Amino acid sequence: MFYSDELIEEVRSRNDIVDVIGSYVNLKHKGNSYTACCPFHHEKTPSFHVSRERQMYHCFGCGVGGNVFTFLMEHENYSFPEAVEALAERAGVSLPERNMTKEERKKADERTRIKEMNKIAAGYFHYLLKTEHGNGALTYLKNRGITDEMITQFGLGYSDKFSDDLYKYLKSKGYKDDEMLKAGLIKVDEKYGPSDRFWNRVMYPIIDPNNRVIGFGGRVLGDGVPKYINSQDTPVFDKSRNLYGLNLAKKSKRKGVIFCEGYMDVISMHQAGFDNAVASLGTALTVGQVNLIKRYTDRVYLAYDSDEAGTKAALRALQIMREFEMPARVISLKPYKDPDELIQNEGMEEFERRIETAVSGIMFEIDILEHNYNQNDPQEKTEFQKEVAKCLSRIMEPLERDNYINSVSEKYSIDVKALKEAVTAYGVSGAANIDTSVFRQQERRGSPEEEKEKQQLKTERVLITWLINDNELIPAIEKILSPYDFSDPVYRSVVEMIYQQYTASNKVEPAVIMNHFESREDHEKVSSIMQQDFGVEITANEKSGAITDLVKRIKRKSIQNRIDNAGADLEKIKQLMVEKKSIEKIKINVF
Ligand code: GTP
Ligand code: MN
Repeated sequence: MFYSDELIEEVRSRNDIVDVIGSYVNLKHKGNSYTACCPFHHEKTPSFHVSRERQMYHCFGCGVGGNVFTFLMEHENYSFPEAVEALAERAGVSLPERNMTKEERKKADERTRIKEMNKIAAGYFHYLLKTEHGNGALTYLKNRGITDEMITQFGLGYSDKFSDDLYKYLKSKGYKDDEMLKAGLIKVDEKYGPSDRFWNRVMYPIIDPNNRVIGFGGRVLGDGVPKYINSQDTPVFDKSRNLYGLNLAKKSKRKGVIFCEGYMDVISMHQAGFDNAVASLGTALTVGQVNLIKRYTDRVYLAYDSDEAGTKAALRALQIMREFEMPARVISLKPYKDPDELIQNEGMEEFERRIETAVSGIMFEIDILEHNYNQNDPQEKTEFQKEVAKCLSRIMEPLERDNYINSVSEKYSIDVKALKEAVTAYGVSGAANIDTSVFRQQERRGSPEEEKEKQQLKTERVLITWLINDNELIPAIEKILSPYDFSDPVYRSVVEMIYQQYTASNKVEPAVIMNHFESREDHEKVSSIMQQDFGVEITANEKSGAITDLVKRIKRKSIQNRIDNAGADLEKIKQLMVEKKSIEKIKINVF
């Protein structure tokens, strides 16, 4: 670890979790916790809880959870030291220079290394573009009308024709093959060895809002296939949670954010003065991207390609926007294919006009619907009108709904009364049409063995939750259960820390325990124990019974495991059998 436990704890305790998370999501005070719709998965009803008392968060919908550090790690894609540094700065805690040699530090933070490599690679590609080697690529960009200013602003570059020059360059800087492989900068062939992933391509570095190079897109110079190669997801690059151009767009003074499909579109738009343009990274728009953009704007424009694929992508994007209550309008690019073409041909004034005349998502959808039905066929026309009514029934706000009903009935000559009735008949039921099943955690039934193990883990989890909720139980339980009676290694460490904390200070601080775990998986596991709230009042008698039962079950299983592992050591088995018998006498009394 770079910083001492004490320092980490000071930083943590000086950053109230409700304040920190509250600056990212809209928290509502409810009972003794704060709730919101989870920023890590899609949902309509809030199951994301933040507890000021425990200084922890947990989502009952998707299972994420942790303390203020893990929140930043998840939300900002920070490494642990980065999260500590950001929060130290926020609270005005000064940190010592990480007192480690360069070598040690390199080992300790793979992500930092990958970001370093990306930065070096981006600089190298950019440099090459300006040399003789990059002539072809530079000419290509010039022919597409890209200015030097944009080349600098976006850090565009060129990957050379040699298939291993970047590899050699990074090697000379001390980076190892497996690191470069993890960074997605090279490929390794069993027979031919390592080679660069990108060669002879125009390079588009992908830069996150904190100005770090997290990946690359590379385009062929001309018509070859594949047209683009993009970095794969790496420890620093998650395509579904980043947007091309956001590093620049976040500083824009323009209203709203314009989503387009291609890197070239973004560059072209910025060049024309629309510096609020972003693009997804070669995939369809994701929930994570909408969540991300929500932090920067409350209005989105879609400038997707005008072909069939682009229209489909826009419809899908609108659905996600709607689910996240992000107002979206659609910019028509016709007769041009994409924003780049429109701007090249018509200039920025025309694009400005297109923004002004952009239609709301719902009008766009209805327009598309109209083309799918033959309006001269009475039956098809009825079908169309039904679909329109369904579409309008998704608008929750009554006034807005009425306004739309009026303008739609006018535009498509549908009787306004009939339309209104039809909309009512469908009920205001946007929710019913939305498929959220993908986001829900799959409950899978395993083999009997697996089910048993799950049950055991649940028993352990519930008991630990009791220990955390009710610290006074600790002394009695500590006498019977050692951390080693817990079968799960994470639970074992948690119990060990609970005992230690209680011995030292007579109280348990969940958020401190959290500091000791590093992987996301562990964070989720630990936070799920800590946030459980039984929510019911039970009598002391019932509680004694329940806890006694949990303790017995854990002990029984633990002894059984030891018996199973005792092999032929009869003496030991005998002793364990005696111990097992004595379990029946256990009785925990709660008052
Ligand atoms: P130009 O053709 O140079 O104008 O590029 P563009 O940015 O307009 O690309 P286009 O509209 O064809 O595609 C949109 C985006 O999809 C691109 O920016 C890439 O992110 C992605 N994409 C396009 N073609 C490919 C491909 O062949 N492979 C991969 N992985 N992604 C692609
Ligand atoms: Mn294009």
